[in-house]
Amino acid sequence: MSFDDAIEALSIDALKFVKDGFIIGLGSGRASTALVKSLALLIKTKNYKITGVPTSLQIKMIAEKLGIPLIEADQVDHIDIVFDGADQIDSQRFVIKGGGGALLRENILFSLAKKVIIMADKSKFVKNFTRTVPVEVHPLARNTVTKAINKLGGNTELRLLDKGYPFFTENGNIILDCDFGIIKNPKPLSQKIKQITGVMESGIFIKKPDIIYKANTGGKFDTI
Ligand code: A5P
Repeated sequence: MSFDDAIEALSIDALKFVKDGFIIGLGSGRASTALVKSLALLIKTKNYKITGVPTSLQIKMIAEKLGIPLIEADQVDHIDIVFDGADQIDSQRFVIKGGGGALLRENILFSLAKKVIIMADKSKFVKNFTRTVPVEVHPLARNTVTKAINKLGGNTELRLLDKGYPFFTENGNIILDCDFGIIKNPKPLSQKIKQITGVMESGIFIKKPDIIYKANTGGKFDTI
């Protein structure tokens, strides 16, 4: 089932929140890619002065190619809006991120943002989280963090590339994909994960999005 048409349509709708002069956080992944393409068109047609802050090399290269002026997160004191995708969204509006490994930079942008807009297809909406939680970990803390996550009730799996080598984030860290089963209380779990020494970021984000776009079939979408 493809949600591409709906993602494209909602990425155009979401631009109504963009004003001239805005600093925009650019998330990573497919939904963010659609948004960046629509944003580039808006900048061209309206001659807006927009600055993009990328969350990954993936989105940076797309934005660069489309001519969006870019700046890094440490050069701004705020972000007007972050547009990003998500891996799962629960009924309390918490999101799991990090499927692409960009969670640390994404959460830095969330923390700087006046408004967070999430865009995802309907297959990602659940009552309670059911998928694994990506946890970014310093490589030297792999075993100690694994034990600490086990104590919290999670089974960990080191994220690997297709050929079996470890996946490294753009920050030089590894990812442990942690299976906690069904997660009914995401906030305390994420807080406990973040307290473990060696954990750089938890894929359960504590800051909730202000607006969530849900892509449906047939090119349709809702906001919730
Ligand atoms: C990157 O690490 C992730 O948090 C992505 O934002 C998330 O995987 C959503 O990606 P898609 O829009 O490609 O599903």
